[in-house]
Amino acid sequence: MPRSSLQTDSSAEPERTGEKQDESNFDGFVFRYPGRGLQPLINPPLSPVGNLKNLPRDQPDPGAVIVSEESSRARAAIGAFASALQAELKNAMQQGGPVNAIAVCNTTAMPITAEVSSEQGLMLSRVSLKNRNPANAPNDWQREILESFENRKAAGEELATMAWSEVAAIDGKQQFRFMKAIPTGALCLQCHGSNMSPEVSARLAELYPGDKATGYTEGDIRGAFVVTRNL
Ligand code: HEC
Repeated sequence: MPRSSLQTDSSAEPERTGEKQDESNFDGFVFRYPGRGLQPLINPPLSPVGNLKNLPRDQPDPGAVIVSEESSRARAAIGAFASALQAELKNAMQQGGPVNAIAVCNTTAMPITAEVSSEQGLMLSRVSLKNRNPANAPNDWQREILESFENRKAAGEELATMAWSEVAAIDGKQQFRFMKAIPTGALCLQCHGSNMSPEVSARLAELYPGDKATGYTEGDIRGAFVVTRNL
């Protein structure tokens, strides 16, 4: 399909370029969206700096530079959130065990995401294919990426560095999108595993009647961090 027809069709899926990432590899590639076949990598990805085809070959691709800078910012925000929440969680676990710590996850996870989001000028959230809090259900594109993470894991990729980013165009505006897989560790099983204490199960059932976030084992993908930012 010629690019011009993609751009004028605003009702269609946002035009998107995918970039699979890990810490070591930032090269663009052709990303396979499940069920939709191969999508060509459009280069540059709707970069605000215009058509790059005329740039000399030794110039860095500004589209890739934007993705790289935005990814660093996203990773920093995720790091700030994860360490703040983990500190709260560990502290509460030590003081009163998992039943006590549920209250921390219940009352502080969302406020911390909101705080980090406004501090860093972006939108941070957590999503999961099997979410506990209904607010953490993925939307369509997030679900697609979560499913692609499951496929990448099945193909043998490490979870520790599993991430994804793109610049999507929605009604002529560009949005940077970043997702990073969240691995399930041993500690997590006390509240997300199969053999939780009856007290923990009872408390979770009380707070989250539609809870889907149990039955995990160590090494599963618990969900993902999502960062979006309008460019
Ligand atoms: C003490 C119990 C407890 C422990 C331990 C725990 N969680 Fe959770 N987790 C929760 C609760 C409660 C929620 C719902 C939070 C909310 O309402 O915002 C949650 C939500 C989440 C979410 C958001 C998606 C969803 O399902 O709503 C992720 C991701 C997550 N936990 C990952 C982890 C990981 C990874 C670990 C281990 C490092 C872990 N959790 C350990 C209780 C726990």
